[in-house]
Amino acid sequence: MTSIYSRITGTGSALPERILTNADLEKLVETSDEWIQTRTGIRQRHVAAAGETTGDLATLAAQRALEAAGVKASDIDLIVLGTTTPDIIFPSTACLVQHRLGANGCAAFDVNAACSGFMYALGIADKFIRSGQSKKVLVIGAETLTRMVDWTERETCVLFGDGAGAVVLEASAEPGIYATCLHADGGHKDLLYNPVGVSAGFTDEPNHGVRIRMSGREVFKVAVKTLDSLVDETLQAAGMQESDIDWLIPHQANLRIIEATAKRLKMSMDRVVVTVDKHANTSSGSVPLALDFAVRSGKVQRGQTLLLEAFGGGFTWASALLRY
Ligand code: COA
Repeated sequence: MTSIYSRITGTGSALPERILTNADLEKLVETSDEWIQTRTGIRQRHVAAAGETTGDLATLAAQRALEAAGVKASDIDLIVLGTTTPDIIFPSTACLVQHRLGANGCAAFDVNAACSGFMYALGIADKFIRSGQSKKVLVIGAETLTRMVDWTERETCVLFGDGAGAVVLEASAEPGIYATCLHADGGHKDLLYNPVGVSAGFTDEPNHGVRIRMSGREVFKVAVKTLDSLVDETLQAAGMQESDIDWLIPHQANLRIIEATAKRLKMSMDRVVVTVDKHANTSSGSVPLALDFAVRSGKVQRGQTLLLEAFGGGFTWASALLRY
């Protein structure tokens, strides 16, 4: 029996029009462009307009991915969407996007794995295709993370942005995705979280208490260590070596974390896709945005081997090694 693999046949992304630069942030909090660039590599971020939602960005990114793949929305048989900032509590943003695309009838659901949301969604979609359950899947990572940013807290407000990316994943006789690895450790919940919600309740604080709480230094340390072992595990799962990878497409949270992973892989930075300077941390949107950027700018070519990885609240961490 021949194996079924999943292959990315198209990519797309979407960003809000409004750009907030580090200089703009200097007017909001006690910070400097120099501090932000040195500590994070971020120069600017995109911020959704009033009324512009995660679903709006996700729909646009998905339409662009479908167009690039030459696939009709009505041929999609599954939509998996990674997000921590859904438009509404339910229906899922995947359902809202499905209807807007005209893909009604297929399975559609959201995955909340914080910044690893897209990587989780990709891992799940790969399994649906490998099992023969699905043939053409839309995998989306989309966020309006700035909706839960406290613009008076300098430790966090400089780090995040809004955006979405999507891929069309199709069944193929050739790889495709060689391996995906998904992990979580809920024991680290207090280092990066947003404590309010329907079941736990909202508070009387500004924005009903909805705001990112983060112990930046601790998150940084765990992220670097965890990503080190994740890349080892992924290479082993795919039966590959560092030198087999053409491009590292990492989660775009902090340039120093990205550089540490590249060093672990013995990769020079010119083989690493970096968009954190332009987009900041867009959580689930980050990896597919970077992938689409790399494809459309001509960096990533068909047949090349890509290592995608992400780390985020939970903690969660996940990866995929694939032939593009
Ligand atoms: N502008 C100016 N100074 C700031 C600042 C800002 N925006 N934010 C914090 N500082 C100050 C701190 O108050 C501290 O001052 P002190 O030394 O007087 O106490 C100093 O800068 C150093 O803070 P520290 O937190 O140690 O800096 P850092 O080098 O760890 O960088 C982060 C901070 C948040 C950029 C870094 O820890 C990080 O990126 N962590 C990971 C975050 C992340 O990726 N989260 C999402 C995961 S998906």
